[in-house]
Amino acid sequence: MIEVEHLTKDFARTRAVDDATFRVEPGEIVGFLGPNGAGKTTTIRILTGFLPASSGAAAVAGHDVFRRSLDVRRRVGYLPENVPLYADLRVEEYLGFRSRLKQIPPRERRRRVEAAMERAAVLDVRRKLVGALSRGYRQRVGLADALLADPPVLILDEPTSGLDPLQRIEVKNLIQGLKGEKTILFSSHILPEVESVCRRVLIIHRGRILADGTPDELVAKLGGRVRYRVEFEPAPGPADAIRAALESVPGVLAAAPETPEPTSASFVLTAREGADPRIAVFRLAAAKGWSLRELAREASSLEELFARIALEMAPAAAADGGGPAAPGGGAP
Ligand SMILES: Nc1ncnc2c1ncn2[C@@H]1O[C@H](COP(=O)(O)OP(=O)(O)OP(=O)(O)O)[C@@H](O)[C@H]1O
Ligand SMILES: [Mg+2]
Repeated sequence: MIEVEHLTKDFARTRAVDDATFRVEPGEIVGFLGPNGAGKTTTIRILTGFLPASSGAAAVAGHDVFRRSLDVRRRVGYLPENVPLYADLRVEEYLGFRSRLKQIPPRERRRRVEAAMERAAVLDVRRKLVGALSRGYRQRVGLADALLADPPVLILDEPTSGLDPLQRIEVKNLIQGLKGEKTILFSSHILPEVESVCRRVLIIHRGRILADGTPDELVAKLGGRVRYRVEFEPAPGPADAIRAALESVPGVLAAAPETPEPTSASFVLTAREGADPRIAVFRLAAAKGWSLRELAREASSLEELFARIALEMAPAAAADGGGPAAPGGGAP
């Protein structure tokens, strides 16, 4: 549904996108993750036909974004980084106006505007002036706009930026609710958010796609390991014995007590690549009569990895000649 091949974009002194290649299959929700200045917005603006690339190719919904940008725009709901809204229109007037621009047939406009307002949860502010909305609500009106024409593809540039925690969850739920129905690419620099919504994540840094896969794949590929935390209550016995039992579970490479006491109640498990030992650990605890208080996947593993990518890989990328200040040959 979204196909990007060797896409490069140079601004005067900056290579904002550097030979990016990736695909988003129909019905997929893919997170586009990267630190500030990584090239997310630039890529998105190229994909939505608002910016020409320097070289490479991109197609969305089967149409070339350069030669058929109008066809692309008709099939894509785009939430820009800064939502341009008309301050002196009321929310429903604004969406009505947008539905005319999007050439939604007059008979359908009313219904589409209502449906989009409902999905983006802005019905309660429908008669408010856009200029009087809080940032979170403005963001949601932008989402309603993106949903208006019921497009098959949604490209959302930081849909949760500037939202309070509750609104973030609502937007996350909204995106999740579109699963299977729409193809979605959304950018963010907040990893847990992306991880909870997307089965697949793209990581971009200094214009380059550094990683592409499921969160677990990325962790495995980039040298991390998935960890699990298990906590009993009370501590079921000597830490050494518990540890040995946990390490006998298939897929568990190591079990480390969290506290130095001889009777630790909690352990951190390092799992083999691709293994999820939780069910087996649960069964072990049940068989031994240990009462399990918590058994959780450590969400921080990809986060640590992402921090490492952003920090450590930066000098490495510069050292191999691909820094943003040194755009090698290619585009004139
Ligand atoms: N119009 C422009 N002219 C010159 N340089 C630009 C322009 N737009 C973006 N850049 C540069 O391209 C690089 C990538 O910027 P981009 O906005 O795509 O990053 P981003 O990943 O969206 O970052 P953020 O998380 O801060 O939104 C940056 O170095 C930026 O300064
Ligand atoms: Mg951006």
